[in-house]
Amino acid sequence: MLLDRVKPLDAILATAEKKSLKRTLGWFQLMLFGIGCVIGTGIFVLTAAGAQKAGPGLMLAFAIAGFVCIIAALCYAEIAAMIPVAGSAYTYSYATMGEFLAWTVGWALIMEYAIAAAAVSVGWSGYFSGTFLNELLGVTLPPWLAAGPLALGGAPGGLINLPALLIALLVTGLLIVGTSESAKVNAILVAIKVTALTAFVALTLTSPEFDAERFNPFLPAGIFGGWGTGVGAVGAAATIFFAYVGFDAVSTAAEETKDPQKNVPIGLVGSLLFCTVFYILVAAGAVGTIGGQPIMGPNGVPFPAGSEELARQCATYAADQLPLVCSNEALAHVLRQIGWSGIGNLLGIAAFLALPSVILVLIFGQTRIFFVMARDGLLPEKLSTVHPKYKTPHIVTMMTGGAVALGAAFFPVGKLADISNAGTLYAFMMVAIALLVLRRRDPERKRAFRVPMAWIIAPLTIAGCVFLFLNLPIDAMLFLPGWGVLGIIVYFLYSRGSSHLGRGIVEVVDDVAGEETQIPIHPPAD
Ligand code: ALA
Repeated sequence: MLLDRVKPLDAILATAEKKSLKRTLGWFQLMLFGIGCVIGTGIFVLTAAGAQKAGPGLMLAFAIAGFVCIIAALCYAEIAAMIPVAGSAYTYSYATMGEFLAWTVGWALIMEYAIAAAAVSVGWSGYFSGTFLNELLGVTLPPWLAAGPLALGGAPGGLINLPALLIALLVTGLLIVGTSESAKVNAILVAIKVTALTAFVALTLTSPEFDAERFNPFLPAGIFGGWGTGVGAVGAAATIFFAYVGFDAVSTAAEETKDPQKNVPIGLVGSLLFCTVFYILVAAGAVGTIGGQPIMGPNGVPFPAGSEELARQCATYAADQLPLVCSNEALAHVLRQIGWSGIGNLLGIAAFLALPSVILVLIFGQTRIFFVMARDGLLPEKLSTVHPKYKTPHIVTMMTGGAVALGAAFFPVGKLADISNAGTLYAFMMVAIALLVLRRRDPERKRAFRVPMAWIIAPLTIAGCVFLFLNLPIDAMLFLPGWGVLGIIVYFLYSRGSSHLGRGIVEVVDDVAGEETQIPIHPPAD
């Protein structure tokens, strides 16, 4: 039977109770944590790809993606507060829908975290090369070191994105020696990011260059650009959904929150609402000042973002005439174009400083999921080896970091973000399903936070995730089943046979260096 191996929830909760973290967080800390994980490459860089897909309709795209994320965040929060152990969506699925589906979620989370980390590394490299090297030091990287090859959607003359590769490796090194981001560092980085975006909004919306005419046509590629094309307002929403990813890391802090029924929704929804409003204002400022109409192909449909054709078109513009949709450092570029070069450079420095912490959170999340899967026996146990001195899962961190660095070196940010979104949308959908399964199967169990109107919100989340998924570009959409088939082969060739649960042991992992509980059970009949 395929769906028989369900991890007993009581065993998971017994361990979680032993851990019993103190409830110290209020809504404000949750919000800070949320904003710290969420604001990154999505707004600082993908604004350009979003405008290429939707034009000024990018503002609508931010609203659509923000709405789906807010309802998904509520579902996450209920389950995270109820099953507060490592592994997030993978663990929730293991406890509700069984090992096979949990495996598919864990497998999809690799797409979410590792590929997202690669995307943020590429986003960072745009600001590093454009602002730090070029504007501040006057150094221009040769094109072959600044982007991946054109054949993969990079830039003309590109071969390898060296800065992206190096930042991914640097962050991996920091994680191996046990760096984690303290609340104080997070608060400082949030302040830097929010200040940079506030300055952007204030300067663009009050600029004499601002012209309402630039919003016309508002939807040059329509609301629905066509299935599989990834264009139109909804296509842009599916891409800039990336700008909200990361809040799932916050949901897992629900167990440490005071008065969670009140503070979790305020903190989580508050941080996502805050980002949504900010993002819409940023899009309005960018489009209103330098315009954000897509570069259209011969058939009147925008060239796909990250495509060879678009890269060729962009290469025909002089640097100071570059349209928004072509820029690698969209927001700094806008400020420079409207006469605020100094502030544009400061914004570039803000992105340069703050984006590595987003990469850190994402690679960290990836390694912890691998770690929990290895401890469950679904991946080779060697992967969960903890370094004797640093007490970090160094093998899995090195492997993850290596893969992230390779992805970052050769692929463009938009493609990576779309692929990451496909995996994330699958995981979010499974969390909403897990919520409904638990409400039905275990209605009496204590829930520190209950989603209001769950029988509306959870199905709406499922529908929202499927809808956005279906509006991704076709290659990103197909990546999920392709990756899934590979995962299923690995599951049947390796994981199913070596699964600890299959062999009659339930293991619950709290933390890498923390305790682990082994609970022998009767092996399920296969
Ligand atoms: N939301 C994060 C970003 O935009 C992943 O960089």
